[in-house]
Amino acid sequence: MPHDALLALQTDHLKEIQLRYELALAAHGFDSLLIASGAAPYRYGDDQAWHFQGYGPFLHWTGLAGREHCWLLIRAGHKPVLWLFEPVDFWHASPSLTEEPWQDFIDVRSSASPKAPVLEHSGKLAVIGDPVVIEGVTGEANPEGLLRELDETRVRKTQYEIECLAQANRLALNGHAAAREAFLDGESEFGINLAYQQATGQREADAPYPSIIGLNEHAGILHYQYFDTRPRGQPRSLLIDAGVRFRGYCSDITRTTAGPYEEHFAALIQGLERLQLRLCGMVAPDVDYIDIHRKTHQGIAALLSATGLVSNLDDRDIVEQGITRVFFPHGIGHFLGVQVHDVAGKPTPPPEDSPFLRLTRRLEPGMVVTIEPGLYFIPSLLDPLLAGELGQYLNQPLISRLRGCGGIRIEDNLVVTEDGSRNLTREL
Ligand code: GLY
Ligand code: MN
Ligand code: MN
Repeated sequence: MPHDALLALQTDHLKEIQLRYELALAAHGFDSLLIASGAAPYRYGDDQAWHFQGYGPFLHWTGLAGREHCWLLIRAGHKPVLWLFEPVDFWHASPSLTEEPWQDFIDVRSSASPKAPVLEHSGKLAVIGDPVVIEGVTGEANPEGLLRELDETRVRKTQYEIECLAQANRLALNGHAAAREAFLDGESEFGINLAYQQATGQREADAPYPSIIGLNEHAGILHYQYFDTRPRGQPRSLLIDAGVRFRGYCSDITRTTAGPYEEHFAALIQGLERLQLRLCGMVAPDVDYIDIHRKTHQGIAALLSATGLVSNLDDRDIVEQGITRVFFPHGIGHFLGVQVHDVAGKPTPPPEDSPFLRLTRRLEPGMVVTIEPGLYFIPSLLDPLLAGELGQYLNQPLISRLRGCGGIRIEDNLVVTEDGSRNLTREL
């Protein structure tokens, strides 16, 4: 989409969320709302701060993920006001904003102080943000009912948000292609991460979440958090789960690649990818997301049988006996937006057998979700299974061979449309 068209959509987005916020404020008896972008806390006993990424509602309005100590005032029937923190400071930069049409809709004022603005005529005021940052600010702090309703305003994405998420996908896919090349060239996890950053033009601290880049057995650690600097003599597998933030909006994409001599593992990736595509095909209005999660377990059971990892047990028993939960212990996905695990996914708790499922709603047009089935060889889950009564149904020699490949996850980002879905990750 041409940049001008995107900027025009942003104005529509702001008009729409002004309406949504006004309704939410009225429903909870507030006249106005002050939103704090937040600030990175300092590490204990140190003069260095943690990496900063702004508060969700602030990003919903501005997309400015890296701006600390800003404040945004929303009032019914008035232009929003943004106090942009621009200190006189010879230690740090205060980059000015690129001039864009959204600044006709929001009154942007420069502020040299990190403190909340002093407000007049704000009526009954709610103040939301990190409790440490809003402490002592006049107004009702983080009213729970209002917060829940504001989360709800983020569930159905506007066209602007969808285009930002699509662009975040395009940018991340450049990184995934470079990461795959680096893996096939024998690079270390660290080297693959550098290739990803170079191709996406995004430094680690600005990514929507820490990239997960696991070679071999590390691919089976769901949120593996280190980068080994040593190349692996025989790279058997790469799992990379990495995204990009674009104008505040996140992508969250996972790809798994088999090493050159890993026929079994490559076949398993193919099988999981076929399942992932079938699950993506289920994304449509009125579908219960929990059903997609349940279908994943059935699909994993079928895959375990077809590949000979489990035998002499029918697929239903493979699920009911809890075997699929050993190979696929997480949820099938979540909402995606200005936060990688976007808000409002669980108005009802997940089913007891799926405690990690982050989304339990029926799908509606405008929702953006991930679909991310996985199949892993995780020693702490597998070993008790193999040692127990069900161990007899598992192909222990094959599992032993595949353990060193760690695991597989394949993750796309989809928008629910009026009659189905749009897969932002695969539309190129
Ligand atoms: N990257 C974290 C997740 O996929 O949910
Ligand atoms: Mn992910
Ligand atoms: Mn995800």
